[in-house]
Amino acid sequence: LTNGLALTPPMGWSSWNGFGTNINEKLLRDTIDTFVSSGLQAAGFEFINLDDGWQRYPGSRLDNPLEADPVKFPSGIKALADYAHSKGLKLGIYSGPGETTCAGYTGSQGHEEEDAKMFASWGIDHLKYDSCCSHEFAPESVVQSVVLKMSQALLNSGRGIVFHACHCGWANSWEWAAQYGANQWRIGQDISDDFNYPGNRMKYFFDVLDLIDRGNPLAQYAGPGHWNDFDMLIIGLNGNSSHEGAGCSNVEYRTHFSMWAMVCSPLLIGSDVRTLNSDSMETLLNPEIIAISQDSLGNAASTVGVGNQDGGDLQVFAKSMADGSFAVALLNRGSVTAEMSISPSRDLTVEWPKYTVRDVWKHKTFGPYDTAYTVEVISHEAKILRLYEVVANASMPLL
Ligand code: GLA
Repeated sequence: LTNGLALTPPMGWSSWNGFGTNINEKLLRDTIDTFVSSGLQAAGFEFINLDDGWQRYPGSRLDNPLEADPVKFPSGIKALADYAHSKGLKLGIYSGPGETTCAGYTGSQGHEEEDAKMFASWGIDHLKYDSCCSHEFAPESVVQSVVLKMSQALLNSGRGIVFHACHCGWANSWEWAAQYGANQWRIGQDISDDFNYPGNRMKYFFDVLDLIDRGNPLAQYAGPGHWNDFDMLIIGLNGNSSHEGAGCSNVEYRTHFSMWAMVCSPLLIGSDVRTLNSDSMETLLNPEIIAISQDSLGNAASTVGVGNQDGGDLQVFAKSMADGSFAVALLNRGSVTAEMSISPSRDLTVEWPKYTVRDVWKHKTFGPYDTAYTVEVISHEAKILRLYEVVANASMPLL
């Protein structure tokens, strides 16, 4: 099954990380306006996604219909979708295959066709269909069948709706979800606003490094139209999360954003974009990072070459790009500054007599080099580089 959508990882915003169920029409309209005025839309962010909590009724779908909360959304969801569309943006919504959703509102169980048609008639462009809580202990075959049911219903609705089949990573959905029509699926539990939560890696919430580790062996499952979802972004939450987390430094948020782009995760901003500080805006608006995310080949990065350069704290990730270059991340997970290096022949297994190195956070190109490129990487930084072969007789601008 395929809807032909999400040929590059979806980019936008989701209400959950910053607001939980505390959402309403004004917040959504303000977010849409801020997308336009801040340059986020021009940079490629387009989905404005309602997560759980837009529904009117708590409790089971057996007892109540699925409707929008008239207090939170007095004009209704269609008016919101129309508003998003009038600004060139898209609107997403949330439901699940159970009688209730994770936050305890009416789900779609038994009403899949009807709900898909309702979403289509509202002009919805993205559905997060969350079985995290309702089907956590169901056999994988049951999870597959509920995903298939909604995916089919969305196709029958006649509207192109990006389909996020969400399982918090406990079903091995990467192995089958694309086949069942999903455009994205979660690889792990919910993200917390932590880069590396000290000590306890088995807690319910995951941190940035936990998710990078979970996703590393799954790169093969990502590609145009179907993506590993590392969860929504935490940039700019600064500890104000609907989850746990004390916040991250600017360097850590940059590393998080850079790595989500490298691994081709959807890029859904989770913070209040109306109040983002200039550091967070600068991070989200780096066009060279977005270009790595949105490359048409859709190769997800994983560790390469020597991989763990020191067996633990220092990791090299790479992905090949449509123009023949490589995007590389030199990730220092440790607590002290380290020298890290990349060598095309050693790590990327290409024989390039000469190459240049573009540092996409410095916005500068260095080289050419004919041996390894070595650079200092501070604690929790990821140096993001583009490596280009220098082809004889071609001139490569050195900026
Ligand atoms: C689950 C999901 C979250 C969010 C909540 C909503 O926990 O993993 O991303 O959608 O449900 O209740």
